[in-house]
Amino acid sequence: MSSSDAIRMEKVCYSVGGRKILQDFDFCLERGVNRTILGISGAGKTTILKLLLGLLQPDSGQVFIGDLCITGIPESQFMQRRKRIAIVFQGGALFDSMTVGENVGYRLFEEGRLSRNEIERIVLEKLRFVGVETALDLYPAELSGGMKKRVAIARALAADPDYIFFDEPTTGLDPIGVYNICSLMQRLQGEGKTTLMVTHDLDTAFATSQRFTFLHQAQMLFEGSEAEMRSSQIPEVREFLQPTEGSLFV
Ligand SMILES: Nc1ncnc2c1ncn2[C@@H]1O[C@H](COP(=O)(O)OP(=O)(O)OP(=O)(O)O)[C@@H](O)[C@H]1O
Ligand SMILES: [Mg+2]
Repeated sequence: MSSSDAIRMEKVCYSVGGRKILQDFDFCLERGVNRTILGISGAGKTTILKLLLGLLQPDSGQVFIGDLCITGIPESQFMQRRKRIAIVFQGGALFDSMTVGENVGYRLFEEGRLSRNEIERIVLEKLRFVGVETALDLYPAELSGGMKKRVAIARALAADPDYIFFDEPTTGLDPIGVYNICSLMQRLQGEGKTTLMVTHDLDTAFATSQRFTFLHQAQMLFEGSEAEMRSSQIPEVREFLQPTEGSLFV
């Protein structure tokens, strides 16, 4: 993909079990602009990431990676493009039966393109980047929540993606863990990676992103900068930023 390429959805509708999760949803992630999608639990944030990756198909509307519409075509036809995007799943999704090193190198071993030595070099480099190289031979069950998230980030970095999607990367971490993950995201952005995060954690969002999308009841209710969001008069946005008794979201 060239640097001007974007990942976007146009008029996407998606329902699960008769419930509308997205209705005519438009979204664009341009290269170099770090974005966060905010919304309450169950709003459909993880669903958006899966749609953008082609892991789910919309009921209607289209998803594009660069100039290629990936909606309705076989995965094999957009695999090359999807390789430029990595995702750090909510909860990490590490393979329990593999060591940290095997988890991080898994994709590269599967591809079979690089030698074992080369893969081991990359695995160590990525683990060093996230600061958990000492965990190389440990199993996920032996790691703290914060370490698991960092290993999941190292795994996402192994294939040297241009775009990294983060699904709730700081949920469940203590303040130091949150700080570490935010710093990591900022370093990745400094190295030219474009990040898209979905979260309901405002501090993480404002620390790491320039543009914000607020998803509520299947619609994009707000799109803009932090300053625009903070001064928004949209009741649901105000409520999300500063919840009150008798919340609109109950
Ligand atoms: N496979 C599924 N079967 C049934 N319902 C589903 C399925 N996947 C998602 N949903 C529903 O779709 C809605 C959106 O789910 P999604 O996981 O995208 O929300 P979310 O915004 O990521 O929530 P959270 O902040 O809790 O992670 C939820 O109400 C969820 O219950
Ligand atoms: Mg989610």
